[in-house]
Amino acid sequence: MAAYAEDLAFIHDDGFGMIARGAAATLLDALHGAGLREGVIVELACGSGISSRILAGAGYEIRGFDISPAMVELARESVPEGRFEATSLYDAPIEPCVAVTAIGEAFNYLFDLRAGFEAMCGVFERAHAALVPGGLLIFDVAQPGRGMPRLEQITYEGPGWRVSSEVAEDPGRRRLVRRIVSHREVAGLARTREEHHELALYDHEEVFAALRTAGFSPRTLATYSGEYNFSLGHGGFLARRI
Ligand SMILES: C[S@@+](CC[C@H](N)C(=O)[O-])C[C@H]1O[C@@H](n2cnc3c(N)ncnc32)[C@H](O)[C@@H]1O
Repeated sequence: MAAYAEDLAFIHDDGFGMIARGAAATLLDALHGAGLREGVIVELACGSGISSRILAGAGYEIRGFDISPAMVELARESVPEGRFEATSLYDAPIEPCVAVTAIGEAFNYLFDLRAGFEAMCGVFERAHAALVPGGLLIFDVAQPGRGMPRLEQITYEGPGWRVSSEVAEDPGRRRLVRRIVSHREVAGLARTREEHHELALYDHEEVFAALRTAGFSPRTLATYSGEYNFSLGHGGFLARRI
């Protein structure tokens, strides 16, 4: 399964930055409120570095990890002062830090065959061990209802690109599949690429309980800072290390 190859990485960066921007603003507010104004932030599934750019600009040191080499290339260009590695978040070291992020359904993607609810809980434990007291874990997960139990087709357009996503949810297996076809013009040539993304869906209450078990004080987010509002099938969490 391809994971955000060159064209989809570019399109994500160009047209779908609102979640990362909103999450970064929410995290900055919470860090400042907790008096944590400097230190390391570990970004799991950092993507093209949209949130990393904002957090680095606010004075934090960024360690970013993403399974997509194309995303990591964009992140390195955008945040030269950060440190980025193309690796799965399940292998990423989480060093002592003030915050850990996993923005944009990072734990749901099944690009890495080890991914799933238990693997996510393992990351909660590693994050808890690495965070300073009062440190924060911020993330969002796709949940049952994300795609509805019917087929949806949505098309988005931006300068020089168009992307169509066909979404099918299998409620019995708690799985979502997105078939994403991108069209992009590069050096005067039009090209089409297709990716299939399979996601596992997690129940909101079960995620909440797992955060408590790992030693966090969790909070459900209704919004990432007003830039992106959560709705049915998509839940945001801000968890404080006790
Ligand atoms: C929707 S994008 C979000 C990217 C970024 N966090 C943002 O909000 O702009 C999902 C990201 O998760 C990454 N991803 C999926 N599974 C991963 C894994 N096992 N390890 C690291 N990154 C992963 C993808 O490559 C992609 O960059």
